[in-house]
Amino acid sequence: MIKEFFRKQKAKGELIKAFRAAKIYKEVKRDKKTIKIYPSIKSVRFLESRTEHVFIMPYGIDPKDVQKNIVFFQQVLGKNIDITTDNIKKVILNVNHSNIPKELKYNYETISELVQDMKIGIVAGVGMNGEYVVFDAIEFGEVNFLVAGEQGSGKSTMLRNILTTLICTKKPNELHLYLADLKLSEFHIFDNIEHLQHPICETPSELYKVTQILMREVKKRGKLLKQYRIAHVDDLPENAKVPYIGLFIDEIIMLIGEKDILKDLVQIVALGRALGIITCFSLQRPSYDILDTKIRGLLSVRMGFRTTDVQNSKIIGTIGSEKISAETRGRYLLKRSNIQELQAPYITQQEAEKLLKPYKVKEIIEENPPLDQQEEQIEDEIEWGFLDNESEQKR
Ligand SMILES: Nc1ncnc2c1ncn2[C@@H]1O[C@H](COP(=O)(O)OP(=O)(O)OP(=O)(O)O)[C@@H](O)[C@H]1O
Ligand SMILES: [Mg+2]
Repeated sequence: MIKEFFRKQKAKGELIKAFRAAKIYKEVKRDKKTIKIYPSIKSVRFLESRTEHVFIMPYGIDPKDVQKNIVFFQQVLGKNIDITTDNIKKVILNVNHSNIPKELKYNYETISELVQDMKIGIVAGVGMNGEYVVFDAIEFGEVNFLVAGEQGSGKSTMLRNILTTLICTKKPNELHLYLADLKLSEFHIFDNIEHLQHPICETPSELYKVTQILMREVKKRGKLLKQYRIAHVDDLPENAKVPYIGLFIDEIIMLIGEKDILKDLVQIVALGRALGIITCFSLQRPSYDILDTKIRGLLSVRMGFRTTDVQNSKIIGTIGSEKISAETRGRYLLKRSNIQELQAPYITQQEAEKLLKPYKVKEIIEENPPLDQQEEQIEDEIEWGFLDNESEQKR
């Protein structure tokens, strides 16, 4: 008990130091002296993953000032802090203990449970507080992903992990997939998966065929929304429901100069949210040529794996990615409404292949076609003159 008391006093002292550094106090004159009134600390709780401080601002001081001056709090309390406020006077400040694992094994039981009630569940990884970060791309309207980072930083593995989860948890009539593997190195494990609507594209010209298919789908779905006067395909009546669509492209740098494809992609990405289309592109070197501001602005979820320099991190939108060490593969910064550091679940090709096996299209080997087909075949053959009626009789 006494130990706990001193621990709390120490934490309160640190917090007051941070108030002082951030100049969060009110000055009042009393007996010719100026005294500082700091926020009143209501509680300090030591939780497993964080230390939570709750305090009330003095009258006349905006609680938003705490967030605005977060850097001064970080100087005293460490960089892993988060702040929430009721925007009137109460502030909760958490000092998170870094519980990001160095490696996170992809565990299908855990992951499938996390996404089981989601439309398109994305298990992004484990964050600062040691907990999984999971979100529903459709529910949150966060459907366009850019996965970027230097060679060997974990981009393709991230795509593999997201795709494997989606394939194993969504039925082929709930999710249609289109994949492009322009480096010819990654997606072969997804060959013949039931959800695929087109063979995996290996060249830009094959991908162009797919973007054409998707553009037709975009138009069709757009018409449906208009016809039913709705804003999202999820609101279509039962008899007009459409599946979600996923377009995954590993290494879009290979599309440089492919104006027609890029033009289509911009449209698909721009309209995808209402139409139930998610897109996920990986990119090793984020150059402006491929990531012009039009498409960059639309790819709202950014996964910034290790980069070579801050310039690259800036283009990706995840400043700090350049500080990720080369040893911690699969470590990245996830940018959604804020930026958080995560460890991505790691699934090897062999493990993914094992999980994917039941979802491969089965080859149908029939030595003798069923009877009704045999009859049809005979009729066809007579029609085409391969058999005369006599040999027909002999059968
Ligand atoms: N989440 C992860 N956890 C642990 N190790 C990982 C993780 N992701 C990737 N790795 C390791 O890093 C290697 C490279 O990963 P990956 O192929 O995904 O990188 P990449 O960014 O796609 O590289 P490239 O740009 O060359 O295509 C993997 O073979 C694996 O050993
Ligand atoms: Mg790769």
